[in-house]
Amino acid sequence: MSKRYTVTAALIYANGPIHIGHLAGCYVPADIYVRYLRAKGAEVAFVSGTDEHGVPITIRAKKEGLTPQAVVDKYYTQIKQSFADFGISFDVYSRTSLPVHHETSQAFFKTIYDKDGFVEETSEQYYDEVAQQFLADRYIIGTCPVCANPNAYGDQCERCGTALSPLELKEPHSTLSGSKPVLKSTKNWYLPLDRMQPEIDKYVGSHTEWKTNVFGQCQSWLKEGLRPRAMTRDLDWGIKVPLPDTDGKVLYVWFEAPIGYISATKDWLIQKNGTDAGWETWWKDQDTELVHFIGKDNIVFHCIIFPATLMAEGSYILPSNVPANEFMNLEGDKISTSRNWAVWLHEYLEELPGKQDVLRYVLTANAPETKDSEFTWKDFQTRNNSELVAIYGNFVNRAVVLTHKYCDGKVPARGELTEFDQETLASLADFPAKIAEAVENYRFREGLALLMDLARLGNKYLAETQPWQVIKTDAERVNTIMNIALQIAANLSIVSEPFLPFTAEKLQQQLGLNANDKGVWQSAGRADLLPDGAVIGEAFLLFEKIEDSVIEKQIQKLHDAKKMNELATKSVPALKPTVQFDDFSKLDLRIGTILEAEKVPKSDKLLKFLVDDGFEKRTILSGIAKHFTPEEMIGRQVTFIANLAPRKIMGQESNGMILMAEDRDGSLSLLQPHKEVWAGASIS
Ligand code: MF3
Ligand code: ZN
Repeated sequence: MSKRYTVTAALIYANGPIHIGHLAGCYVPADIYVRYLRAKGAEVAFVSGTDEHGVPITIRAKKEGLTPQAVVDKYYTQIKQSFADFGISFDVYSRTSLPVHHETSQAFFKTIYDKDGFVEETSEQYYDEVAQQFLADRYIIGTCPVCANPNAYGDQCERCGTALSPLELKEPHSTLSGSKPVLKSTKNWYLPLDRMQPEIDKYVGSHTEWKTNVFGQCQSWLKEGLRPRAMTRDLDWGIKVPLPDTDGKVLYVWFEAPIGYISATKDWLIQKNGTDAGWETWWKDQDTELVHFIGKDNIVFHCIIFPATLMAEGSYILPSNVPANEFMNLEGDKISTSRNWAVWLHEYLEELPGKQDVLRYVLTANAPETKDSEFTWKDFQTRNNSELVAIYGNFVNRAVVLTHKYCDGKVPARGELTEFDQETLASLADFPAKIAEAVENYRFREGLALLMDLARLGNKYLAETQPWQVIKTDAERVNTIMNIALQIAANLSIVSEPFLPFTAEKLQQQLGLNANDKGVWQSAGRADLLPDGAVIGEAFLLFEKIEDSVIEKQIQKLHDAKKMNELATKSVPALKPTVQFDDFSKLDLRIGTILEAEKVPKSDKLLKFLVDDGFEKRTILSGIAKHFTPEEMIGRQVTFIANLAPRKIMGQESNGMILMAEDRDGSLSLLQPHKEVWAGASIS
């Protein structure tokens, strides 16, 4: 292994909060990897931050009625806080709106420009004459040429999945003003990926060790043949193009955002040392390994486009690995911010306080490492109750409690070892290397399973040696047993730290072990982590059982969200065919006053009303008993059809029909005159 690592975690758009999909796909594995590297003694810069430019930000701003700057400020603050509370151990959590990033990415662009690394090209782009701006793909809606979906976006039809260009849409219109966009020519700077392809082929081709999902996706892009890609865009939210006469143009967000990793590294050094001196070590030294953690939707940008940018600049190292994960689904459905189908990190932290490691555990145990995976609350509960509580917590608790009971709360010295003791210690000694192997190869699920096996080893050791029996006859032997159990627990705390940092800390507190030093992993596997006579702290539970009610509440919350969302997206019923005025005027619509109201026996739907229609009192039946009580109807004025032919309903005759408006959620609303009118008033 190398000694120095620059590890990045995707710069998420500052346009919404963090959810478990982000955590499982990118941030939890990155954090495990980095914590492991530090424990191993490597030098690490763990950098991340928010991506604050691009169309996703402006779309959100429009939706929330805020300026783009207000949107990114709001979400930067929230995201940064929830990551910190969750224990993601970034060295820096930066943002692409910082001056250091604007300068870094502009200088980067300028270097490539000065080397003739870009191709200048004039093309026709859609322009909104009302909003007076060029339209990003997402701002253009039209009819899909493939499936005729009238709401396809300029970059993609979400109904049939076809990737589109705005020029392919039929009947395009701007989502900004609704107007029909016109074509206008504009100059932009392109990275000639076609020309660079041989070099890129060679780079990707030399990384057959990358995860299959990552390598495969790259190969299929390369096979299709790379095309030049514009690195500047006609937009106003973003980083200005550092060339004369480029008003209204900004750097393409996927050009500058990954450079944000470099700026974040500088930001870190500036915050730490007051200067960015030394930043090149992390980005230009051949002995530094650059590793990008991302979700699968970012693969092409990190494996092809960003490396191409780095090549074009010429003085940087290239990513050595891009361990992208697939997606995590939630309770049988795709996680979706817009549909509010997600478990939001900031809400989790508030509603299940102190349970960061439970979520880290579940997300890692189910990590979408090779294919999409699934989070369910039931599984969350089971993994907590029957794995963390029953295996890990139980072992540690027994070791600590029995030491207090039999050994005066101090680490007893070992006596002579049995064969079983020796086997157990040998097995213990093997764990750290096995876990290290898994983590170094980005197999975090396997690493986690191994550390649980270590806890199982501890349980098995206590179950078979039975100190609670032996104590009756052989206190010396119990000393040996407890010593070994405690050494297992001490080792467990060290190998757990990358995965379950809060738990590792609590465990070390109970064991009186100080094992936070950089490089502590080197001592893992040894049976003398706790010296004889060392004082053991008070026992307390590492994990608590999670009750059904907690889980049910979370499931209910998801279902409520789904319902709200369905309501929000429900559209009004389609219009009926046109009728002529003559047809309409045949209807006699009137206002009546309800004099009496009662339930109809044997019906849970019907109410029977006696209505004053100005001439007489007529009976009208209405199927609204689920929406209104008889009492609340009495005295109200209602709109009714006065010349509807009488109908028999449940043996009773109804003379007319009361009109109601049906709301989005299915609830009914009476149509009442806005001031009281005389009974029998006609409506026209
Ligand atoms: N903002 C992008 C997203 O949320 C990720 C950008 S990663 C970076 O999908 F490399 F560009 F920074
Ligand atoms: Zn389509």
